Amino acid sequence: MIFKKRTHTCGELRASDIGKIVTLNGWVDRRRDLGGLIFIDLRDRYGKTQIVFSPQHNYEAFQIAKELKSEYVISVTGKVERRPKGAENPSIPTGEIDVLADEVQILSKSETPPFLIEDDINVSEELRLKYRYLDLRRPIMQANLITRHKMAQIVRRYFDENNFLEIETSFLVKSTPEGARDFLVPSRIHPGKFYALPQSPQLYKQILMVAGFDRYFQIVKCFRDEDLRADRQPEFTQIDIEMSFVTEEDVFNIVEGLMARLFKEIKGIEIPTPFPRITYKEAIETYGTDKPDLRFDLKIVNVTEIFKTTEFKIFRETIEKGGIICGLNLKGCANYSRKQIDELTTLAKNYGAGGLVHFKVENGEIDSPVAKYFSKLSLQKLKEKMDANDGDLMILVSDEPQKVYSILGNMRIELGRKLNLIDEDEFKLAWIVDFPLLEWDGEENRWVSVHHPFTSPKLEDIQLLDTDPGKVRARAYDLVLNGNEIAGGSIRIHDAQLQEKIFRLLGISDEEARKKFGFLLEAFKYGPPPHGGIAFGFDRLVMIFTGMKSIRDVIAFPKTSSAISLMDEAPSEVDPKQLEELHIQIKRED
Ligand code: AMO
Repeated sequence: MIFKKRTHTCGELRASDIGKIVTLNGWVDRRRDLGGLIFIDLRDRYGKTQIVFSPQHNYEAFQIAKELKSEYVISVTGKVERRPKGAENPSIPTGEIDVLADEVQILSKSETPPFLIEDDINVSEELRLKYRYLDLRRPIMQANLITRHKMAQIVRRYFDENNFLEIETSFLVKSTPEGARDFLVPSRIHPGKFYALPQSPQLYKQILMVAGFDRYFQIVKCFRDEDLRADRQPEFTQIDIEMSFVTEEDVFNIVEGLMARLFKEIKGIEIPTPFPRITYKEAIETYGTDKPDLRFDLKIVNVTEIFKTTEFKIFRETIEKGGIICGLNLKGCANYSRKQIDELTTLAKNYGAGGLVHFKVENGEIDSPVAKYFSKLSLQKLKEKMDANDGDLMILVSDEPQKVYSILGNMRIELGRKLNLIDEDEFKLAWIVDFPLLEWDGEENRWVSVHHPFTSPKLEDIQLLDTDPGKVRARAYDLVLNGNEIAGGSIRIHDAQLQEKIFRLLGISDEEARKKFGFLLEAFKYGPPPHGGIAFGFDRLVMIFTGMKSIRDVIAFPKTSSAISLMDEAPSEVDPKQLEELHIQIKRED
């Protein structure tokens, strides 16, 4: 088909173009038939322009316009005119003008779409994902992918300016140790053998350091077969970074520079650097999580000390068993009704609490159904420790430490939202540092790495490896933004003896280490430089920058939470011949 190509986009024309003869190509967004005149909003990714068809001006074009329906693709030629007084639309950049059509050509027709191509639609996400090409035509989705593109360009420019090399690593690899399940790819040429899709380029970027490429980055797909959530996809994108001859400070500097650049160029915000650093211990004890949302206070307060000798049985027994008592001070909530307090108790129970004890502060007095069990002095101390004043409501939970932190951490987030303590326009970044190197896996009865086995312990903690491994802190760090873990990394071990020691602690035999990461250990025999790095969850970063609630809204073709692609219906069965070539037989479960 020969068609008239556009001279301008649908977002381009302004009052300064009045009088020009132009051609626009695009989709029919909306058609309004006002009897004498037909109006069409023509849409492309740059915006919308109003086209006017008048039978007096051009009868033939007017007749064709009568046939036009939503999502038809057309080419229109006509003259740019000033809209009549009162008909301007100040909410769009092309709102001062319209195009009076001389000529129109239908380039392709469209069936009636299953939903309207506009921002606020009330349809299921399943329908949107099935017709993703229509969903992606919606202005908000176009804006999301455009922001994603811009962020990727800024990332590339920034790293290039800072002397980093973008080096691609393979997708068909040997299994990498990030802790999720691998996606496997069977080899046709080597019967019974499999490649794994990388959970991250971790081992390969370390090998690039051995190879002398001392500053590496890559915007790269990673694949993890794990349970999915709003912020998790089976394939997702990392900004992956590794540097040689560095300490934590160098990694922090580079990352802070990148974040400052992204915030400035995308959001026009100057964010203060350096970012605050919070130890893992402090994060857990104050916010109940290692990814705290720092946009609001509502800190967890440990009041165990006050109740050491209390007569209140639940508290005393918990303390005797090594448990703790912590609370939140809900400012201005002393007027909560019985029902509202019951709701708080239910919330606490949903997060695993046995119960919830509350104290209202009113007229300088502390009021609570359990007040009689406590001395005046201890209640006074409680009030002071929790910085409670008239009008405040203190809620306390007692249990083993981990449980208390998790319950109050979850409640903190939920109440932060409910009490409107969160400013959605704020961005609070922080480094979480001093993670434990190892954690005890009760099921497997052994130590496992919190990060991965190549993470270096803090040098001052190395002697604890022999005596108290659980106390050893790692040279690992996460970057958190508004309650999301957006990046994580570490300084790596480059000393063969230390690496062996860690493997031994993890119960990884020489044989197993050779089998799993032999190639990395082999490479490390040939002068590995001291090195470290970090990786960002790029989808999460874009999600936060675009204000979306799910990473699916910033990925062109995401999977559902059950790992299905509704548009192309992957995963699907394959031709038996393909299976045969791959030496694979399917075992059917009943
Ligand atoms: P980690 O496993 O912490 O570290 O991953 C880095 C960041 O990637 C994001 N992320 C995900 N995003 C979407 N879907 C997922 N399934 C998913 N899993 C992780 C998170 C996370 O902070 N190789 C190390 C990095 C290093 O040590 O340099 C690694 O992959 O935002």
